[in-house]
Amino acid sequence: MNNLGKFITLEGVDGAGKTTHIEFIKNYLSDLGIHYVMTREPGGTLLGERLRDILLHDEMTPETETMLMFAARNEHIDKVIRPNLLSGAVVISDRFTDASYAYQAGGKGVKEEKIDILKNWVQGSLQPDLTFLFDLPVEISMERLKKTKNLDKFERENKNFHENIRKKYLMLANACAERFVVLDSQKSIEEIQCQIKLKLDEALK
Ligand SMILES: Nc1ncnc2c1ncn2[C@@H]1O[C@H](COP(=O)(O)OP(=O)(O)OP(=O)(O)O)[C@@H](O)[C@H]1O
Ligand SMILES: [Mg+2]
Repeated sequence: MNNLGKFITLEGVDGAGKTTHIEFIKNYLSDLGIHYVMTREPGGTLLGERLRDILLHDEMTPETETMLMFAARNEHIDKVIRPNLLSGAVVISDRFTDASYAYQAGGKGVKEEKIDILKNWVQGSLQPDLTFLFDLPVEISMERLKKTKNLDKFERENKNFHENIRKKYLMLANACAERFVVLDSQKSIEEIQCQIKLKLDEALK
């Protein structure tokens, strides 16, 4: 597939700052006059949002969870991501497939080979051009989350679960260094925004 646009994903443990920086990215791209589409996973389509509700609140086996994530992702790619990339838009997704490796493999022990199969089936050669990983020690992310909202199924998991997710994300970043930018989420929001801006400029020039 010949994408004219750019595919940018935001990843990180719960509460690491993804949503906080989305507003900044939107404003920055608007100021540059760049056409963008902001979306999220699980979700991004009507069906995907219904699956999100189930995924975030209902108990199920880790394998079922993985397959439902990819079912939602298949819709998302087909209806939102691919068409917008083909038309030249910048598509920004709050989470994508790296989250399946981090949460379902790293956090819940689903075999990576199984995720590889679903990834190849659903995604083919589609890959993010740039992935911002918001990295934060788990104690801090859990403190931040407690202050802000009602916790979903994943956010209520124990510290060890979140530690494993963080580790897996850092391993992915190491293995795919060409597309990952690891941001230290302990830094101030302004400092992080400066780094995001630099990387966006590089990616979009
Ligand atoms: N660099 C930062 N310094 C201090 N507080 C921050 C920073 N970044 C985010 N926060 C705060 O941490 C909380 C969680 O941030 P946010 O909701 O953006 O995380 P998230 O990664 O989107 O979480 P989730 O995965 O649950 O959607 C918010 O209250 C936010 O204001
Ligand atoms: Mg968020």
